[in-house]
Amino acid sequence: MVYRGPPRPWLLFVGEAPGRSEDEEGIPFVGRAGRILEEAAASSGLRATEWGVTNVIMCRPPKNRFDRRAALACRPWLGAKVASLAPAILVTLGANALEAFLPEDLPVSQAAGVPHAWEGRVLFPMLHPAATLHSKAFAQRWKKDWERLGELLPSWRERHAPEAEQTPISRPGSPGRGAVRALPSGGILPPAP
Ligand code: URA
Repeated sequence: MVYRGPPRPWLLFVGEAPGRSEDEEGIPFVGRAGRILEEAAASSGLRATEWGVTNVIMCRPPKNRFDRRAALACRPWLGAKVASLAPAILVTLGANALEAFLPEDLPVSQAAGVPHAWEGRVLFPMLHPAATLHSKAFAQRWKKDWERLGELLPSWRERHAPEAEQTPISRPGSPGRGAVRALPSGGILPPAP
């Protein structure tokens, strides 16, 4: 239930908590939200060998409600997962996942689509994929943030993917090397070495 993906993903999605399908199958993001995530990842050019996915809460919360105490209790598992997988890029899905990393009351609407620094890694917050099912505005925002992620992908890949996965991809208008540092709207990444 804790993780789905390759043993060394350089990008890790972090969702909130398993839903019914995930609970039945024991694998994160296999339900509707998972399909939305997979589709967006594939169409941005992210390869299945590059990313993995886990959750802040490791088992389905009662009444499927996100519970901060459960999130706190699961914190050591999440910490251990991040430490052992060692992804360079963390993509939080939804406000509750964002809060597990940046607890300082940063609204997801403000943080989404902007790279932040988190303990030597890049943290790229996004809305939760399930939000796109509930509102057109969220669906549009999700699409826009994925476009930004798709723009950053080549430079992330160049820096963080193992050499075997460094096949260049060319996308019209995509920024090249160094783009992660040229952040819009106050991104706070440290300079690249
Ligand atoms: N499935 C998961 O595994 N996590 C979520 O946050 C939602 C659906």
